[in-house]
Amino acid sequence: MVHSALLVAALLPIAAQAANDWNTPCFGECNWDITDGNGSGTLRLLGSQTGVSDLTTAAGWTILDCDPNVADQDIRLVCHDPDAGCDHVNQNGAEGTLVRLPTSCGSVPFALVTRMWVHQDQKIPASKRALIMRRDGSQPTVKGISLATDFAAVDPDVNGNVTLFLQGSSIPGVAGNFTVTPPTGVAAAKRGLFSWIGDTLKGLSEVHKNITGSSPINFEKDVPLFDQSFSCPQNGAVPAFSGEAKVDLNGKVDGTVSYGVAAAGSIIPPKLDEFGLFVGLDTTVTGTLGLDATLTGSISSGKIPLFETGIPGLDFPKILSIGPTFSVNAEATASLDANLNVDVDLAYTIAGAQLFFPPSSNPAGSYKPGDSNLKLSVSPNVTSHGQVAAHLIPSLAFGVDVLSGAAKATINLDVDASAGVDLSLSAVAEAATGTDGKSAGASFGGCVDVTTGLAVTAGADASLLSFFDKSTSVDLFTKTFDLFKKCFGDNPARRAYTGRAARAALMAKRDSVGCPSSLFGTAASVVEEAVPAGR
Ligand SMILES: *[C@@H]1O[C@H](CO)[C@@H](O)[C@H](O)[C@H]1NC(C)=O
Ligand SMILES: *[C@@H]1O[C@H](CO)[C@@H](O)[C@H](O)[C@H]1NC(C)=O
Ligand SMILES: *[C@@H]1O[C@H](CO)[C@@H](O)[C@H](O)[C@H]1NC(C)=O
Ligand SMILES: *[C@@H]1O[C@H](CO)[C@@H](O)[C@H](O)[C@H]1NC(C)=O
Ligand SMILES: *[C@@H]1O[C@H](CO)[C@@H](O)[C@H](O)[C@H]1NC(C)=O
Repeated sequence: MVHSALLVAALLPIAAQAANDWNTPCFGECNWDITDGNGSGTLRLLGSQTGVSDLTTAAGWTILDCDPNVADQDIRLVCHDPDAGCDHVNQNGAEGTLVRLPTSCGSVPFALVTRMWVHQDQKIPASKRALIMRRDGSQPTVKGISLATDFAAVDPDVNGNVTLFLQGSSIPGVAGNFTVTPPTGVAAAKRGLFSWIGDTLKGLSEVHKNITGSSPINFEKDVPLFDQSFSCPQNGAVPAFSGEAKVDLNGKVDGTVSYGVAAAGSIIPPKLDEFGLFVGLDTTVTGTLGLDATLTGSISSGKIPLFETGIPGLDFPKILSIGPTFSVNAEATASLDANLNVDVDLAYTIAGAQLFFPPSSNPAGSYKPGDSNLKLSVSPNVTSHGQVAAHLIPSLAFGVDVLSGAAKATINLDVDASAGVDLSLSAVAEAATGTDGKSAGASFGGCVDVTTGLAVTAGADASLLSFFDKSTSVDLFTKTFDLFKKCFGDNPARRAYTGRAARAALMAKRDSVGCPSSLFGTAASVVEEAVPAGR
């Protein structure tokens, strides 16, 4: 009873300070904080007294020679204060002990001792002599230690497992604001891992709400997605002419992103048991899709990469690193048999979005379409069905590398902003008279239906854990907005040509762009208007 009460207490969220204390030796349990560079984070290692020790001044050690930029290396050190506990590292033999290193030594916070010996070079630099010499004037022995980071080479049966808990944020300087601390004590470490991950991510997402320091994600580019010209030969009554199908997208992404991570597992043996990532996103995604075509057929641009850049990563050296990238892709499809000019705006605002992976049921945040403009001109005297769709897809990819490759995955978050135009036109007899007096004239009629859509999807490209299946792809948010719907002219058979199946049939019918069999009339404007958000 007393036991379980203690365990519960150990797992309770309490206000945390930076966890690493350089003034106290860490024996059996060590912490490490990311305090400079990108992001912030805390790592806790829990092991046995013989498995985890300390080579910092807090444990009485002074390191003489050590390269701060290398992980695996031989170092020289002396025990300047045996009372502080230098000898702790030798319990059950120094070999195979995981040790904390001072920041001035090595590129990693923790390394394994693979050998310890009396160094043949006993020289102590003059600058360190005053600190190191014993009171009786004798000089302590200079030791040599070989450090390594191949954690898989350690036999866990010798000193037991070393458990790890890790939490990190992309925002620098907030490690002291983490509201959930890692469990402490070997027994506590065995319980409640899953809820600890969840609580940590929730705590981090709350902290992020109050703190600025997100990384910018920006993109602006006018890109041709498709451009194909044809020389159409004379075909009966249709004279030779040159045709063109051209799709371009002027896209813009303007936002900020932050993220947080929690992981639990063991460093000895190297193994990840639980992992979670949260992403905070505020962004606008805007753009204008332009299509000009005088041809008949269908166009599919495929997914076109427009842009890619790194955003600041988070690195717990040799233990866990996250290297995120921000990229933008675009895609356009069109099926047409008319002379068509379309300009349609994409406009979305994503505010305060908090997305969790593994996914939680309801991602927080607001996802709203903005004002749009629509321009549409078509040749008036053909019977035609047309479809145009464009996607602008900003993506975040989080490459995760755990324990030097013990687990690896990329977690993707795609924000797919799309706009689609469905058009149906019917040519009518010249004798038909218009009654509504629309600019489109009365000699033809039709309907146009413009929809925009936003889909936020998360996925992982490799099995990081059992629940991160390779095929995992989860829709976090999906919504279609009916932006604009209008019929014009006076054809009674007007009906927008919509639906997935109808579109697929249209795409399948023709697989490339070609010359029309009859001449299209000059495109006339049928729609030109601003469409306010929420219409
Ligand atoms: C911060 O992240 C950027 C981009 O990933 C990287 O170029 C830079 O070296 C990092 N800085 C530090 C101190 O790690
Ligand atoms: C040590 O770790 C291994 C692998 O995770 C696990 O199977 C084993 O039960 C652990 N041993 C102890 C004593 O916790
Ligand atoms: C973070 O912690 C610092 C120091 O403890 C405090 O001054 C600051 O207000 C905290 N920030 C937030 C957003 O809680
Ligand atoms: C964030 O700010 C709100 C309102 O100021 C406060 O109630 C809350 O405790 C803060 N959360 C954290 C984690 O600092
Ligand atoms: C469409 O109109 C153009 C110009 O007015 C004409 O040359 C063409 O033959 C017409 N096409 C059809 C299919 O009626």
